Amino acid sequence: MADMMWAGRFSKQVDAGVNAFNSSIAFDGRMYRHDIQGSIAHATMLGECGIIPQEDSAKIIEGLKEILSDIDSGALELDPNAEDIHMFVEAELTKRLGDVGKRLHTARSRNDQVAVDLRLYLRDEIAEIMAMVKKLAAALIEMAAQHTETIMPGYTHLQRAQPITFAHHLMAYVWMLLRDLDRLRDAGERMNVCPLGCGALAGTTYHTDRQRTSDLLGFSAPMPNSLDGVSDRDYCVELCCAMSLLMTHLSRFSEEIILWCSWEFKFVELDDAFATGSSIMPQKKNPDVTELIRGKTGRVNGDLVTLLTMMKGLPLAYNKDMQEDKEAIFDAIDNVKLCVKTFTPMLTTMRVLKDNMRNAAARGFINATDCADYLVKKGMPFRDAYKITGTLVAQCIEKGLTLETLPMADYKAMTELFDEDVYQAISLETCVRERKSEGGPSPEEVTKQIALAKAQLEKFA
Ligand code: ARG
Repeated sequence: MADMMWAGRFSKQVDAGVNAFNSSIAFDGRMYRHDIQGSIAHATMLGECGIIPQEDSAKIIEGLKEILSDIDSGALELDPNAEDIHMFVEAELTKRLGDVGKRLHTARSRNDQVAVDLRLYLRDEIAEIMAMVKKLAAALIEMAAQHTETIMPGYTHLQRAQPITFAHHLMAYVWMLLRDLDRLRDAGERMNVCPLGCGALAGTTYHTDRQRTSDLLGFSAPMPNSLDGVSDRDYCVELCCAMSLLMTHLSRFSEEIILWCSWEFKFVELDDAFATGSSIMPQKKNPDVTELIRGKTGRVNGDLVTLLTMMKGLPLAYNKDMQEDKEAIFDAIDNVKLCVKTFTPMLTTMRVLKDNMRNAAARGFINATDCADYLVKKGMPFRDAYKITGTLVAQCIEKGLTLETLPMADYKAMTELFDEDVYQAISLETCVRERKSEGGPSPEEVTKQIALAKAQLEKFA
């Protein structure tokens, strides 16, 4: 068995069980590109600053590039017995270059190395997630534009409340997604600072140029405190939090789609390609995709709690507990990507059953507020109008009627302020059309917010 890197201090090989327990390559191997990218920047700086000979720096960079392309092509496989991706790449470099390879780790520790790798890796993942969320938001905006006149009931307490349109409902989610994009971008910007050169915790006695490595890696600045640079994982927590909120939004939307697919609602029909059947009940068509999204939201929230709990008692600086950050944040990322990727085509292929929405809106007295407002506009105080309308609704329920079909005589019996024009005033079309306060469901207002949302979406480059 080859000597461990720290063999000088130890008189025994590490126990095989401990080695396996300690090893993180099974999950941090996915950062190999970013590890090599960080090492190339470090080696460049070491050469430029005269900390290692220029020709060694050049050989190291060449060697690292070859390792990268060999891993990419599959010619070089990650060694599952390596402690982590950092050790693996360095050992491979030394295998290929001999003593020259051994110079790479000058003025660096795995503590700043892992911190830089993870920031680089997450930066790329954030860009990917944002692109996916943008696609989803754009698809929703497009759907909304087609449904500004599609009347549906709006709910509170899951009871029919007031009339809205399907476009209005969809746009509510678009605004949530726009804030999610904002949070993701924000998390990305805040994490984009460079811990490389912080060393194990206390910097180094070599005359390094941290600004140079930061620039080479596209960070906005080197981190100002070497202890902080290797100690915190707030950027993982923050990103996970943004993802938890994104999942929460997808989960609420999923829950609604699950309801809408039921025979009790039947507002939408999923495309057969995005639903599943039952092994026993031949009539079933189940919205599994949305249920899984709802389920996976719990999992991402769990990852967030894992990260917060892992960090809360750790003394500065690095502690091995922090190796646990990766499985949590990677799990969250993988699942968020999977969910957004599946959700978008499921939505765009879904059939919107307008008539069922309209029929549901026509029952449940969702125009009762408008009936009261009719009286208010004729001079009656709102509380009195509210009471009268409540009495009328009770009469309708007793007679099996709706406010639209209740005879004029019943209206007049309550107050002479009622006239034939009440029927027009409480028609669903009027109720929706007249709700043109800013942000309201009137087609006119929703069209305005569609334009606004489009403009905001375009700003996320
Ligand atoms: N695999 C380790 C991690 O993910 C790398 C840093 C190890 N540093 C150390 N001093 N043991 O956290």
